[in-house]
Amino acid sequence: MSILNIQRYPQASDPSLKAWNAADELMIHVSREYELDNIIIIHDLFGYLSCQLNDHQPQTVITFASQQNAVQKNAEHNHLMNIKQQMLLDDLDTAKCALLKIPKSLDLFRLYLSILSRSIDKNGTLFCGFMTRNFTNGWIKIAEEYFSEINQSKAHKKARIMILKGPKLKVENLVQEYNDENSQLWKQYLGVFSAGRIDYASQFLMDNIILPEGKFVAVDVGSGNGVLGKFIHNNAPEAEVHLTDDNLLAVRSCEMNVFGSNVKHHFSRNLDFLSDGPCDLVVSNPPFHFEYEINMDVAFQIFEDAFRVLKKGGDLWVVANNNLPYKPELLKHFHKCEVFAQNNKFIIYRCRKLN
Ligand SMILES: C[S@@+](CC[C@H](N)C(=O)[O-])C[C@H]1O[C@@H](n2cnc3c(N)ncnc32)[C@H](O)[C@@H]1O
Repeated sequence: MSILNIQRYPQASDPSLKAWNAADELMIHVSREYELDNIIIIHDLFGYLSCQLNDHQPQTVITFASQQNAVQKNAEHNHLMNIKQQMLLDDLDTAKCALLKIPKSLDLFRLYLSILSRSIDKNGTLFCGFMTRNFTNGWIKIAEEYFSEINQSKAHKKARIMILKGPKLKVENLVQEYNDENSQLWKQYLGVFSAGRIDYASQFLMDNIILPEGKFVAVDVGSGNGVLGKFIHNNAPEAEVHLTDDNLLAVRSCEMNVFGSNVKHHFSRNLDFLSDGPCDLVVSNPPFHFEYEINMDVAFQIFEDAFRVLKKGGDLWVVANNNLPYKPELLKHFHKCEVFAQNNKFIIYRCRKLN
């Protein structure tokens, strides 16, 4: 295995969080015994697999804007040129071999297998890497729907590989639909947050938030299927509403749910697409998990970015689980930050930019 310097982007505040683990190393080791022409790499969040297999000119499938940035940066500072980035949901070149780091979400695993079973040659092989502590029988059940042969490697350093062959041709709808309590139809790709119902925290925010009057500019950061952005658009049709998410499947879902000439969608890991100070309102139900890790770095970045893009007098509204330590972080940027509402599970902060 080549010695490469693979980093996390953005850097994690917890130094124990790494850019790869033993499952990635085992996938590289096991897959090298096979013919490695035309490789697809999927859910390679920081680019470890893509960089290690650079000699084979892999197609790396991009699901997240943060992943796109990390793969690019790691390739650049290791002087690697051959990684071809393909957006998830775009057509892939047929591959002899694919490497998939199994995601935490079973729905996202299903979506990936559905795509890969159509993109792998009939004699091809799919290597799915995981840490044994995360194993669930649900993976096998899903794998059996898409592949006819399923084997597992021996465990090494508490990691294992599921080796899948014989892709089955299965027609699948990757978009789920549901009606909320107001008979509003929602569509979302498998693997997008809060499948089948409106998230309770977001509902709590919508039950309490006070929207600005008249014309205004609003941003829904971490928009998921677009529930908060749509609430703003429905209640203030004249407002310019930006919806942004790191997950491409979330952005594509928002596009199906929220539309209009004053609605803008962004596939982004931050608010760099906005200049300083154009916004009256930022709303967020920020993420605090990243796969199996609890990580609040993204939430903290959202608070900092929100302060930058708000006008003087503009408000950031955040809903969160009661136990998350957001207030000290919000106060680093906003001098005025009140608990606007709270119940036994959730808390709503309203933070005003005074200067
Ligand atoms: C708790 S969910 C909230 C989704 C939606 N607003 C709702 O209330 O149902 C958090 C969302 O943040 C997104 N996310 C994660 N990291 C992000 C980042 N760096 N920038 C923007 N969105 C991000 C996730 O993909 C997820 O859709």
